Amino acid sequence: MELSEIMFNRRSIRKYNNEEISEEDLKSILQAGLLAPSSRNLHPVEMIVVRDKAMLDSLSQAKTAGAGMLKEASRAIVVIGDHDRSDVWVEDCSIVMTYMMLKATELGIANCWVQCRKRTTTDSKGNTVTSDVYIKELLELPDNYSVLAILSLGISDEQPVPHTADELELSKLHDGKWQ
Ligand SMILES: Cc1cc2nc3c(=O)[nH]c(=O)nc-3n(C[C@H](O)[C@H](O)[C@H](O)COP(=O)(O)O)c2cc1C
Repeated sequence: MELSEIMFNRRSIRKYNNEEISEEDLKSILQAGLLAPSSRNLHPVEMIVVRDKAMLDSLSQAKTAGAGMLKEASRAIVVIGDHDRSDVWVEDCSIVMTYMMLKATELGIANCWVQCRKRTTTDSKGNTVTSDVYIKELLELPDNYSVLAILSLGISDEQPVPHTADELELSKLHDGKWQ
């Protein structure tokens, strides 16, 4: 697939069958993430691959809504940034997520961005905690890292319609000035 075809085909897929994705595909997706550029070439982003089903289940509860698909996912990649190393770790993590989503799409691996930064959940004691705190405790992450998002990966159990040129919001484009 050419890049523009991959971009049109990329959809957020939240339903997976119980097939596992191959280690080879997982490696290619992670490699794509490592290829992402970063501000000042600091590379503050790290990725944690989650295979364990119980951990995937726990991650599916990392936010109040919108993470449920992780329970059925084959793998998840938690994307974290060293906020001491770079003040633009959010942007750097976002590019890593984007590269990995596009690579996964090219390989026919269903994927979905699960937002964690600025989100909350309820912990085992019934307290509201940030998704960041919840995930950092689960994965035993060092204090200088913050969680941006989780990439959910699996084999699709739905047939999403690709995007088309007709649906693009051309009104978002401005030429020279706002008007
Ligand atoms: C920054 C960002 C955060 C997102 N967070 C979530 C999320 O937490 N859960 C979810 O199911 N989808 C999430 N999505 C997927 C969007 O809902 C999805 O991209 C959007 O509805 C457009 O659909 P498409 O990806 O199929 O084109 C997120 C996407 C982005 C770019």
